[in-house]
Amino acid sequence: MHPSTFTLAVFLGVCGVRAQTTVIPSNSFSSIATFEQYWNYLYPWGSDHNGAARMVGSSSDHSHINAASNTLTLIATPTSNAVPPTSTANPHPAIHYASGTVYAKSQITVTASASYTLYGEFSSPTAVGTWPAFWLTAVAGWPPETDIGEWKGTANNWFNTFNTSSIVRSDLVAWPTDLSFHSLQAVLTAESNGADVRIDFSMDGVHKATQYGAGFVGKALWLIIDLQMEGSSGSPGPGGTTTYKVRNLKVTHT
Ligand SMILES: *[C@@H]1O[C@H](CO)[C@@H](O)[C@H](O)[C@H]1NC(C)=O
Repeated sequence: MHPSTFTLAVFLGVCGVRAQTTVIPSNSFSSIATFEQYWNYLYPWGSDHNGAARMVGSSSDHSHINAASNTLTLIATPTSNAVPPTSTANPHPAIHYASGTVYAKSQITVTASASYTLYGEFSSPTAVGTWPAFWLTAVAGWPPETDIGEWKGTANNWFNTFNTSSIVRSDLVAWPTDLSFHSLQAVLTAESNGADVRIDFSMDGVHKATQYGAGFVGKALWLIIDLQMEGSSGSPGPGGTTTYKVRNLKVTHT
């Protein structure tokens, strides 16, 4: 071992600190090329989910999903079908918007030796019918689900953790409606029982809530950023363009 490596190892050992590994660096939204190294277009399961937006985007279409200046921009625009199509996902709402969603190529799996920290700065619409989010959901089955950012058409962000579809803890924090950027952070750590995950949520550097996910240890999660519309955020949604921005996003694990 090189002496300086030895010194570092002793230092980390004494402090009980584990080295951090970057999963998604803070420049993943610096260009389309960098974006495509770390993110995929749409949801892991396709273009539709539980709201009125059908997601549109690919390496040749950045009208609803774009990345530049370390900022991801998702844009929803109303569609004008005389007979709207319906979502292919439950509960099959009518599609009234074209919008954007991305998900991280790396899955997130909290274990006894891997705690995760997720950080980002969000300019989030809060108008009725706008339903942006920044969330983790199970790769196999459901739940686990933890929502770090979820805005449901009011001046609040919701932190949520689902143990089952009906056992959910939600903590609401007031969110400014002026589209200014505010940071959110979640730290996910395995509990000593080896089964449950503790999630500590902060906004603008201030700790706001702690929640626990039953049996989340070892379960692979997708990280999704989406601009869904209507659904849980009310309807009708905006008649014009809605923009949701996320910048300086970073994911690390120990
Ligand atoms: C979910 O399960 C965890 C672990 O048992 C528990 O601490 C937490 O209170 C549960 N959440 C709710 C909303 O009951």
